[in-house]
Amino acid sequence: MSVSLAPQTFAIALPHGRDYPYIAGKLSDVPAMMRQHVGAPRKCLLITDIAVGALYGDSLVADLTQDGWQPHVFTVPNGEATKSVDHLTAIFDFALTEGIERSTPLLALGGGVVGDLAGFAAASLLRGLPLIHLPTTLIAQVDSSIGGKTGINHTMGKNLIGAFYQPRFICADVDTLQSLPEREWTSGLAEMVKHALIADADLFAYLEENWTFILARDSAIMHEVVPRAAEIKAHVVAQDEREKGLRAILNFGHTFGHAIENVAGYGTFTHGEAVALGMLAALHVSHQQNPDLPLERLLQVVCQIPTPNLLSSIPTDQLIDAMYFDKKMKHGKLHIVLLDRLGHAYVTDTFSRQDLIAAWTFAKSFET
Ligand SMILES: NC(=O)c1ccc[n+]([C@@H]2O[C@H](COP(=O)([O-])OP(=O)(O)OC[C@H]3O[C@@H](n4cnc5c(N)ncnc54)[C@H](O)[C@@H]3O)[C@@H](O)[C@H]2O)c1
Repeated sequence: MSVSLAPQTFAIALPHGRDYPYIAGKLSDVPAMMRQHVGAPRKCLLITDIAVGALYGDSLVADLTQDGWQPHVFTVPNGEATKSVDHLTAIFDFALTEGIERSTPLLALGGGVVGDLAGFAAASLLRGLPLIHLPTTLIAQVDSSIGGKTGINHTMGKNLIGAFYQPRFICADVDTLQSLPEREWTSGLAEMVKHALIADADLFAYLEENWTFILARDSAIMHEVVPRAAEIKAHVVAQDEREKGLRAILNFGHTFGHAIENVAGYGTFTHGEAVALGMLAALHVSHQQNPDLPLERLLQVVCQIPTPNLLSSIPTDQLIDAMYFDKKMKHGKLHIVLLDRLGHAYVTDTFSRQDLIAAWTFAKSFET
């Protein structure tokens, strides 16, 4: 096993001194972190989903209460459908009935769904409550809790309503990942590998070296790689808080992945599975444009992210049309993110439809 990769706590830097810490710590230490970063114990709101609440809600409530906090818990159903205006309204009703003040902290305990929904509620209630992210999925710990994007879905599309709103701190308890359902686990691996590919050759080497342990959720290894992968997102966000430029590199594999999700229908592939397949396609175009890219080496890891054997059943034309349609809806030209070397990404619109056909054919060729 390699040497230690990352500090367990680091600052997420934002303009105007609005830095906040990412802490790879324990949920049981959250009350003390609250005292340090939010203030004296008082009434607080805890929003979670039914699955996460059942696993970690009671002990967190007990720890908070023991420390003098008065947690008021609101539980939402789990799943993407919860990121809706109905559930947002339900949180508003609950919070306002509980008699909140501007200083009432709101803790979001769960995956990206709870983080996005409760984060948006915190941004909106009384024009902003102190928000604390307690991410419990791999995607949430290395990606969605970092960067301040909050929001809900609309029938016209995902994440169409929301706000940028930064938390007071993030506490990622890596041990909670042990209870994740298998598909949620492997889905998160795709985002972690993506971060290594676009920005961190050393992390990629570590993932490569320890891949068997990672697939088996080795606790010691996960404590190394989660904060390191989170730091990459934090670094990108620090340079581009409002998504004007650099943040685009985080979309490596996503333009292809969104097309899979759109055509297959949401829920057939998890987001991470679609991204894993999208990265195969993006690696193919990357290699076409940058022949020195060590394609075989990168594939050794990306190919091992489990995905359903369903991509080949989707016609390539439909996937490509979905890529262009998505862009047309946003009144833009289709751009994709590619790698010119391991650990470095760029955005380009220089590719042909033929390149995309070849990329999809390549991604499909890995299915048995
Ligand atoms: N804000 C951002 O920047 C950003 C970035 C990426 C993704 N997202 C959003 O994140 C969402 C996906 O997040 P997700 O993948 O975390 O999904 P999720 O929140 O739906 O969680 C996945 C499932 O795992 C369960 N779960 C969560 N933690 C668990 C644990 N420790 N043990 C057992 N079960 C657990 C949940 O109840 C849920 O059923 C999407 O809505 C996506 O749009 C947001």
